[in-house]
Order: sequence, then C-alpha cells, then structure tokens
Amino acid sequence: MILESLHLLFFKNYNEANLRFSPRINCFIGDNGSGKTNLLDAVHYLSLTKSAFSPLDAQSIKQGEEFFVVKGRFQQDAPGSDAGASKEMIQVSLRAGQKKVVTHDKQAYERVSDHIGRYPAVLISPYDTDLIRQGSEERRKYFDSLISQLDHAYLELLISYNHILRQRNSLLKLAAERQGGYDRDYLLVLDEQLVPVGEKIVAARQQFLLEFVPIFQRHYQQLADSREVVTLSYKSQLPEADFAKLLRVQERKDLTLQRTTVGPHKDDFVFLMDDLAVKSYGSQGQQKSYVIALKLAQFEILAARNQQKPLLLLDDIFDRLDEKRITRLLQLVADHTFGQVFLTHTHLDRTDLALANITDQISRFRVEHGSVQAL
Ligand SMILES: Nc1ncnc2c1ncn2[C@@H]1O[C@H](COP(=O)(O)OP(=O)(O)OP(=O)(O)O)[C@@H](O)[C@H]1O
Ligand SMILES: [Mg+2]
Repeated sequence: MILESLHLLFFKNYNEANLRFSPRINCFIGDNGSGKTNLLDAVHYLSLTKSAFSPLDAQSIKQGEEFFVVKGRFQQDAPGSDAGASKEMIQVSLRAGQKKVVTHDKQAYERVSDHIGRYPAVLISPYDTDLIRQGSEERRKYFDSLISQLDHAYLELLISYNHILRQRNSLLKLAAERQGGYDRDYLLVLDEQLVPVGEKIVAARQQFLLEFVPIFQRHYQQLADSREVVTLSYKSQLPEADFAKLLRVQERKDLTLQRTTVGPHKDDFVFLMDDLAVKSYGSQGQQKSYVIALKLAQFEILAARNQQKPLLLLDDIFDRLDEKRITRLLQLVADHTFGQVFLTHTHLDRTDLALANITDQISRFRVEHGSVQAL
C-alpha cells in the first residue's frame, strides 16, 4: 500500500499543502517548529483517523480557522503492477464543534471504526518513550490500538466494554448522589454484560502477546546487539480470579469511589530489561531501543496480517540512538523490510549521508513555517 499524494487545508500550522510522494522514501527536512512532525501526523490521521500527538481533534485545526481537511490518495497494489491497482481517496475533516467526518471515495463511513486497520501505519517518534515512563493507560491504549488494527472483533469488544463501563460508572455516581438509593438489580445486569466482554478482552491480550513477545525480543536483539534480555508481560487480576466474583468483592469500594476498580481497563503491560523495570533501569538509549523494537514488531505483525506493508513514519530518526543503532535501523530501510517510508530530520546533509546506501528513489521536501516544497 502506498500513499501517492497528500492534501492539507488548515491542518495545524499549514494553510494549504499539496504533496506527491515517492513510493519508497520521503524525507521532510526543516528547522525545529517548521511543521515536519505535523506532516507525519496528517498521514497518521489518514491511517487511524486521529492525531498521534494531540488528544483533541480540535487542536489540529489551524489557529484562527474553522475547520481542517486531510486528504490522501492511496494505491493498494505495488506500483508497476497495472492489473487492478486500485486508487482510493481517504479524507478526514473536522469543523469546529461538529463531528469528525471520515470518507472513503467520498462515502462517509457509517462508523469511523470501520476504517481502522485498512490503511495501517507505524509511527516511531521521540514521544514513544512516554510509553515506558507514563502510566498504565498509555500502554493499554497502545496495545489496544495495535490489537484493534489486527482484529476488528477486538475493537468491537473494546467499544462495547467501554460503553457498559460508562453506564456502570454513571450508576455508581448516581448511587453516591442519592446516598445509596440506587437500582442494584440494574448494576447486576450491567455486570452480567461486562463480565463476558471483559474476559474476552483479557484472553485476546494474552493471545496477542504470545505471538508478539518473541518478535519483539528478536527485533531488540538485532537493533541493540547487546546482552540485556528484554521482555514484557501482561499484568491483570483476571486470569487468576473470576471477574464476576471480583466485581462483587469490590462492590463496596466501587460505590465509595464512584468508579469501577477492577477489570481489563485497570490492567497493565510491564516492560522489563534483565528482569528489572525498563523505566528505572534502562538508559535513555536503551529505552528508545526498547520502544523502537516494539514498533518494529508492530510493523512485522501488521505486515504479515494484512499482506501489505504499513506506512512507516520515522520522526526525528537520529533521536537518542547511537551510530550503530541508526545504521541497523536504516539497514532495514535499505533492505526493503519496509515499504513506503516517511522520515523527518533537521539537516539535509546528515540525512543524505545516512541514506547513502539506499539506492531507491528518495524524495526530499523542504519544510519552512508551515509550507513545504519538493527539493
Ligand atoms: N492547531 C495549530 N495551529 C497553528 N499552529 C500549530 C497548531 N498545532 C501545532 N502548531 C504548530 O506547528 C509547529 C510545527 O510543529 P511540528 O511539531 O510539526 O514541528 P517540527 O518541524 O516537527 O519541529 P521539531 O524539529 O522541533 O520536531 C509548532 O510550532 C506548533 O506550535
Ligand atoms: Mg518534530
């Protein structure tokens, strides 16, 4: 799958931009704050219908404007194979105060979730180490998004779980407001719905890790070429305990705290290096390598499942990696492990030097104050 062209209107610091891409390597070069990462984020929007960085869609509308549009033309088959190479237009747009609209060949999706997983992309960015440093919510979001891209049924489970959970938490709140006077039967009905969905989510996460962890470990070893052994494990109360019973045990506490305190929405993924927490034990470069290995494993799994290579978005390629690790990462680019690649850097000469072994077509773009020119 290839992104042939990108059109932006009032997206972040861009008024308007029109770009045509190389099917292989695309470099965005520009000073700090010029808008390079914003271009990768626009591609992220086309893939996952949301920003990788801004939690609220409205933050992606250019300051002082009313709406944004991100439009991309994808080609599903490899270029050159004219037999049935289909072109598809994806557009994500948002008008302030309204619902985001995602269209495929001008047809709006009935549900935006139907788009997820069809145009996969993997982003490697300096913010990835937040995954290690921040709380469990970041890690759950990461793995939930990844498993959802692989398995639409999982996404449906999550949507359903979150819906029931919201109802349950509203009821707990109501119970507190009414000082205990609440419909306990309704709580039990909600729990009956929550339990099977929650158990399936936990089982799917466990199943996913069985496949994912060995691939992740192989990528770490290849990238780091060092002795430390990395692993990651899933931390949940559910596999050992009965979810339905746990909900009963916690019922008093849930009523007091006005929220549901057990379930897959409280689980965590534990990142380890030589059996110690990567968060406190790993150096900055080791942490960075850890998350890059996660992303490379993500790429491999998505590519195998979709039988097409995801777009690879490499933000600030030299951030915190030593020369050896940069060389190994770029070797993967040169070896055609990846398909279409978008990368950003501040210096043209350093980027050219790093890509010197790559014989494929490289397109370079100069980014300056929210405008972008092909070089
Ligand atoms: N909604 C918005 N409206 C206007 N400007 C915005 C909006 N959102 C982000 N920006 C601006 O876009 C600019 C460019 O951001 P971006 O992260 O793309 O820069 P960059 O080229 O990747 O820089 P660096 O090299 O520092 O990573 C920032 O100065 C930011 O303030
Ligand atoms: Mg940037």
